[in-house]
Amino acid sequence: DKKILQDSHGRDHTYLRISLTERCNLRCSYCMPEEGVPLSPKSHLMTYEEIYEIAKTFVDHGVTKIRLTGGEPLVRKDIPVILEKLATLPVELSITSNAVIIDKFIDVLKAYGVNKINVSLDSLDENKFKHITRRHEFKRVYNNILLLIKEGFTVKLNAVLMKNFNDDEIIDFINFTKDLPISVRFIEFMPFDGNKWDMSKMISYKQVMQHVNEAFPETEIERLQDAPNDTSKNYKIKGYKGSFAIISSVTNPFCDSCNRLRLTANGQLKNCLFSSTESDLLTTLRSGKPIEPIIQKAIQAKFKVRGGMDTLKKLQEPKLHSKNRSMITIGG
Ligand code: GTP
Ligand code: 5AD
Ligand code: SF4
Repeated sequence: DKKILQDSHGRDHTYLRISLTERCNLRCSYCMPEEGVPLSPKSHLMTYEEIYEIAKTFVDHGVTKIRLTGGEPLVRKDIPVILEKLATLPVELSITSNAVIIDKFIDVLKAYGVNKINVSLDSLDENKFKHITRRHEFKRVYNNILLLIKEGFTVKLNAVLMKNFNDDEIIDFINFTKDLPISVRFIEFMPFDGNKWDMSKMISYKQVMQHVNEAFPETEIERLQDAPNDTSKNYKIKGYKGSFAIISSVTNPFCDSCNRLRLTANGQLKNCLFSSTESDLLTTLRSGKPIEPIIQKAIQAKFKVRGGMDTLKKLQEPKLHSKNRSMITIGG
């Protein structure tokens, strides 16, 4: 019978997030420093065969869901082959993308059964979008979101909220769900190396709900049932086609139900979004040794909450969170 990936806190790991590339066609300030990050040499990145080999080992040990991330996963040239290989595994395949070029991949995504897409979009205002992403791509992203819906994909929007930047758009985003079957997820801004995080820039779950409660009567706001292992707390406005949610990693961590592992583009396993220790699966694979013992060991070392930064006080200590990578090389 199948060996599973259970940690010392009894959590089963059934969801693997694979970062395909460290590159991105946007430059979001909450994700990377303006000057960029040093990129791994190509020889240190996983090839599509290696991605498949490593993914297969995880699937053989109980992983049922794989999400492809980046950087921007679609800028990877061999993305069609990666999807083709991964689609042969018995897993749910999904992707998180900025949607800038996703219109070129509609057929490929459909062909390999990727029907759920999470799109990062932090503003519905063209100028603000340009300010946060340092690129002029709002119209393409916006049109591509509408295209994805038209093509029948299940779409979630991820909006990282930041004080005095897009916190005035919470209700606009919710109204965006009035006629569109889409879920908008407000994400609490999290600290990573080089993103100039400060607790005071973050908009909390509680603050989002204050805005919602001011804009809608209590009887119109419905708390939805969250999916098992969900990262978000889900709500909807009665009568609206879509829904909204909050991902409260900072003020209300959901680590108790964590089922997630991360594989970076250069083949390092991270047992937690916030852990600064990594296990080198790629070098082991290339040396011809089995990777399973390393995976099991990494999982046993997983902390109960946020890579050991269990309190807000610890999360705010730069010497703890800046040991981690920049978000662009983790993939969210
Ligand atoms: P679904 O599979 O649709 O539920 O998506 P997801 O929330 O797992 O993935 P997505 O890539 O859309 O990530 C949305 C936000 O949730 C990002 O800000 C991620 O960093 C955050 N997130 C995803 N997984 C975790 C996690 O394990 N821990 C924490 N703290 N945040 C996470
Ligand atoms: N805090 C919160 N969410 C972040 N993301 C990227 N950087 C951060 C951060 N510092 C989100 C993006 C993307 C998802 C994978 O991670 O919104 O959609
Ligand atoms: Fe899991 Fe770490 Fe995220 Fe908590 S912070 S949910 S332990 S990956």
